[in-house]
Amino acid sequence: MTTTHPSLLSILALVVLTAIMPCQAEFMVVLPDSSGLVDRPQNGFSNLARTDPAEQRAVYETMAATGNAWATAIPDVCRGRWHGIECMPDRNDVYHVVSLSFGALSDDTAFPTCDPAHATLSPALLHLPYLRSLFFYRCFSGDHPQQIPAFLGGLSPSLRSLILRENGHVGPIPTELGNLTSLGVLDLHGNKLSSSIPQSLQRLTRLQLLDLSYNQLTGPIPDLTNPTLNVLDLSHNFLHGQIPATFGQCDSLIKMDLSRNRLIGSIPDSLSNLKSLILLDLSHNSLSGPLPSSLGKLISLRALLLNGNYMSSATIPEDGFAGLKELFTLVLSNMGLQGPIPESIGELPSLRVLHLDGNKFNGSIPQSFQRLEKLSELRLNDNRLSGPIPFSKEMLWRIGRKLRVYNNPGLCYDASNGRSEGIDSMSGISYCETETKRVVVGAASASISGHQTKHLSSRTDRGPPSRPSSYAPTHGSGILRLLVPITGFLLSVLPLL
Ligand SMILES: *[C@@H]1O[C@H](CO)[C@@H](O)[C@H](O)[C@H]1NC(C)=O
Ligand SMILES: *[C@@H]1O[C@H](CO)[C@@H](O)[C@H](O)[C@H]1NC(C)=O
Repeated sequence: MTTTHPSLLSILALVVLTAIMPCQAEFMVVLPDSSGLVDRPQNGFSNLARTDPAEQRAVYETMAATGNAWATAIPDVCRGRWHGIECMPDRNDVYHVVSLSFGALSDDTAFPTCDPAHATLSPALLHLPYLRSLFFYRCFSGDHPQQIPAFLGGLSPSLRSLILRENGHVGPIPTELGNLTSLGVLDLHGNKLSSSIPQSLQRLTRLQLLDLSYNQLTGPIPDLTNPTLNVLDLSHNFLHGQIPATFGQCDSLIKMDLSRNRLIGSIPDSLSNLKSLILLDLSHNSLSGPLPSSLGKLISLRALLLNGNYMSSATIPEDGFAGLKELFTLVLSNMGLQGPIPESIGELPSLRVLHLDGNKFNGSIPQSFQRLEKLSELRLNDNRLSGPIPFSKEMLWRIGRKLRVYNNPGLCYDASNGRSEGIDSMSGISYCETETKRVVVGAASASISGHQTKHLSSRTDRGPPSRPSSYAPTHGSGILRLLVPITGFLLSVLPLL
């Protein structure tokens, strides 16, 4: 599925913003700590202040290794700062390098770029003992793909943020990265990393963001129990095994994206502890049913995507999602779900995008869907739904082409809502004939219905009528359900009387 949803995008933008912010030097919050650095604005650079000479050499080497030898001409790197180096003084007015960044992130955040043919990560980085942030974006992606060097595990113990995004890195994630126990951000997104995720990452107990998405990682997901973690993105890999139940202990999680892996087993009930979770994407795995009703306890959830997990014949629990008052996006496409669509889904007040297509849902579209006033995208296509489509013409116009109801043999459009000509999404959907005619002969049918009930109930024993468009809504009272086919019957007989 390649469509994008505006509402989902806004959430992703928020989460991506959280992800991007720590790597932009101007947003980096450098907290005072025990390292003896003085946290103050750097414009009052005194004449006596000098960059630590050993660190200065390390910066020259690091810059040269990326193809930025021009930096060697700068006599004092903290004084002649470029966009991409941050320094802080200690009490003796000696400046220390706290942040190095590379790569053209955006027009207004252009860090030194790397020479794609020759750039390497220099071990000189080990001589920057005050380093808190290291950022490389699209740096080593030339003809000679590089591994993430194990020596990075020996970087400053005060390193808070290690970001190696879209650098073409190959090979495993070095176990040694588990030594960087102050890390708050570890972002290795968009490389070609393989092998399994090292268990040593469990030692990173201060992590707030772990993004290993868009790699080729295999093996099981380590048991993370990290209470500080806000963003976990392991999507687009080849991870297998089950979703660890310990994730329920990561109770600060805002975003959990495990989509497009090969995960199996059921969705652990423990995830219901994640009261801050805004985005849960488990789509395109091989997870099995049932759909846990505990998902309804994720009260902050705005986007829930489970599509593409074939949960053979699971049903949606009647009040399964009833607690999700903030939910914008619910995607349950192509899951083999069956049974009725619960009325409770229509009670979700914030819902904007609802995809229930490609399942085996039967019965009628819940009447409650009329109350989904914010809905801008609805897919019900390719199910076994029947009965009248319960939407006003206004709602049909509002949703426009983002309404998909096709390939439900029993659905019909109730012409008493206004003719549907010109409404794209209704093309191929016939009018509910019996519904229309009920209006015409309403009085007659009411007076005769009691008489005919017996006849029709014996008819239902023989299976559904051959013309699907005469199906009645199944959510009405039993009498109403029978009444509608009766009027159809009457209409065919009346002219003969
Ligand atoms: C880092 O971790 C590895 C194993 O995970 C260990 O062997 C090594 O001694 C640690 N220390 C450094 C400085 O890399
Ligand atoms: C829907 O499907 C289920 C299982 O296949 C069946 O038991 C139920 O009677 C069906 N309901 C309707 C309204 O057709």
